[in-house]
Amino acid sequence: MPPSISSTHRLALDPIATPERLLLGPGPSNAHPTVLQALARMPIGHLDPLYIDLMGEVQELLRYAWQTDNRLTIPMSGTGSAAMEATLANTIEPGDKVLVAVMGYFGQRLVDMAGRYRAEVVSIERPWGEAFELAELEAALIAHKPAILAMVHAETSTGVCQPMEGIGDLCRQHDCLLLLDTVTSLGAVPLHIDAWKVDLAYSCSQKGLSCPPGLGPFTMGPRAEAKLAARSGKVPNWYLDVSLLNKYWGSDRVYHHTAPVNMNFGMREALRLLAEEGLEAAWARHRSNAERLWAGLEQLGLELHVSEPLRLATLTTVRIPEGVDGKAFSRHLLDRFGIEVGGGLGDLAGKVWRIGLMGYNSTPENVDRLLDIFASELPAFRPSPAPVAAAIA
Ligand SMILES: Cc1ncc(COP(=O)(O)O)c(C=O)c1O
Repeated sequence: MPPSISSTHRLALDPIATPERLLLGPGPSNAHPTVLQALARMPIGHLDPLYIDLMGEVQELLRYAWQTDNRLTIPMSGTGSAAMEATLANTIEPGDKVLVAVMGYFGQRLVDMAGRYRAEVVSIERPWGEAFELAELEAALIAHKPAILAMVHAETSTGVCQPMEGIGDLCRQHDCLLLLDTVTSLGAVPLHIDAWKVDLAYSCSQKGLSCPPGLGPFTMGPRAEAKLAARSGKVPNWYLDVSLLNKYWGSDRVYHHTAPVNMNFGMREALRLLAEEGLEAAWARHRSNAERLWAGLEQLGLELHVSEPLRLATLTTVRIPEGVDGKAFSRHLLDRFGIEVGGGLGDLAGKVWRIGLMGYNSTPENVDRLLDIFASELPAFRPSPAPVAAAIA
């Protein structure tokens, strides 16, 4: 007798229906409508010659978005964290010293991941809301002599954009690879992988590129490739091993894993849109909409957490005013207006809201809509002034 079929977990559901949301938090951002159309196409085989052509187009457009000629530029199957892990898994050998410059939550994630690949991790830290100066990075490079300096360009937990000028040169002088998290900057904030001498970088699909989450762009320059080639042992992560992946994404086109073909349809469309707009125009659009938001929030009497020169155009941290329940207010925005705004992470938990203007969502209309809603709704969340009699007593 075959076993009887249990109905215990058999939910009777209607087809999925999601509400309209305007995603103005730390990501994902809303996807561009033509990206959604691309995702909805019937899959084709992941070794179909048409798909092979598409892979080449995605790689070439990623090189444009990152301003790099790196041969090993591929969208990892997985989210930004998978691509982050790929940068570390491929280059760290047990005992390698990795210096992580931590100025927020995602720097801490780099520390955690690098340790799991048995690096000797050293970290230097800045308070959440500040960035590193060249001099302190140089002092740390001299003191620790790391094989890799890992840092975050656009720290989504704090809204800081780390100035990059000169860091790549320092790393070359000290014979160290530069690894950069560009999850919240790719496609939206000036980013020059080759000119900045960045050896390894990763990103995501769901922010500046206006695509849903699911792919993690990855790029590796010649110095990092040389470190990979000189490894004494195998990359300890089969799925993320770039030497294997490159047999699929490089000229051999040999099966490695079944590529998420529809995600790559979406990625191709997202990158096509970016190339059509042009990088400078996309960067300028993000900047001007961010400035519009900053000015509007300040006019409402709100305080921005990050000083102007370090502010990130894609993500703004706004201090929650004294006495306001920040979580209740963002819940109100979601329930009443379908707008998502993020809360604080780590050191900034309960202290800030995080407002994202990324990719498709970076428009003046979205900024004005959000500012109008803050103006009309926030007063009800502010503590009412103490009654006069009580104040006198
Ligand atoms: C700066 C930064 N790094 C890494 C990640 C991890 O990316 P994912 O959540 O796509 O895995 C995020 C996610 O928001 C991020 O903001």
